[in-house]
Amino acid sequence: MERKIACFFSFLGGGIFAVIVILSGIYLILSSGVIDPGADQPIPDIERWMAKTSIRAYLKGHTPQTKNPLPVNNENLSNGCKLYVNNCAVCHGLADGKKSKISEGFNKSAPIFVNEAEEWSKDPDGLIYWFIEHGVRLTAMPAYSKSMTETEKWQVVMFIKEMYKLPEPVKSRWQGIKTVDVMN
Ligand code: HEC
Repeated sequence: MERKIACFFSFLGGGIFAVIVILSGIYLILSSGVIDPGADQPIPDIERWMAKTSIRAYLKGHTPQTKNPLPVNNENLSNGCKLYVNNCAVCHGLADGKKSKISEGFNKSAPIFVNEAEEWSKDPDGLIYWFIEHGVRLTAMPAYSKSMTETEKWQVVMFIKEMYKLPEPVKSRWQGIKTVDVMN
């Protein structure tokens, strides 16, 4: 019995020692300054894998199943379009599907919605809402929980999902916006 207890404690001691060595190793790497924090650096595979795995697992359990409570009509679409152009287009693109200078510089790129508009329309309403509400940590995607009302966020969700089949006059208005760069 005593031998068993002694064996257990030496096993435990070995485990604690191993954890200390690993944590010290991680600290040494982080504090040695070898990791370049520039946004123009490629993302290491391990970091990409960790982010992808954790975000997928999180969203599986936390995505609200809520459907958009607002009716699809020109008023909501038109307001959604305005909000999208002012808050999102600089990163997610306009009707021409081109990337802005800002989004060329992202480390983790932002999808240009219009280029796969029909695909995005299949995403659950609550999932798009979640991204707008919370943003994505350590990427350029901001959280709009403080700056948009609930109605505004649902209007943007509606605009993204209806982008590929907008009714007139919202369609002409959307296609007429050529740049979000106000100095041009
Ligand atoms: C400053 C740049 C920037 C702005 C502004 C921005 N986004 Fe994003 N967005 C990103 C980036 C970068 C990603 C990719 C994040 C990732 O892959 O983890 C992203 C991801 C997303 C996603 C998730 C796409 C997916 O992978 O499923 C949605 C939805 C989204 N944004 C919607 C919006 C909406 C709507 C707005 C405006 C209200 C907005 N974004 C504003 C940069 C931005």
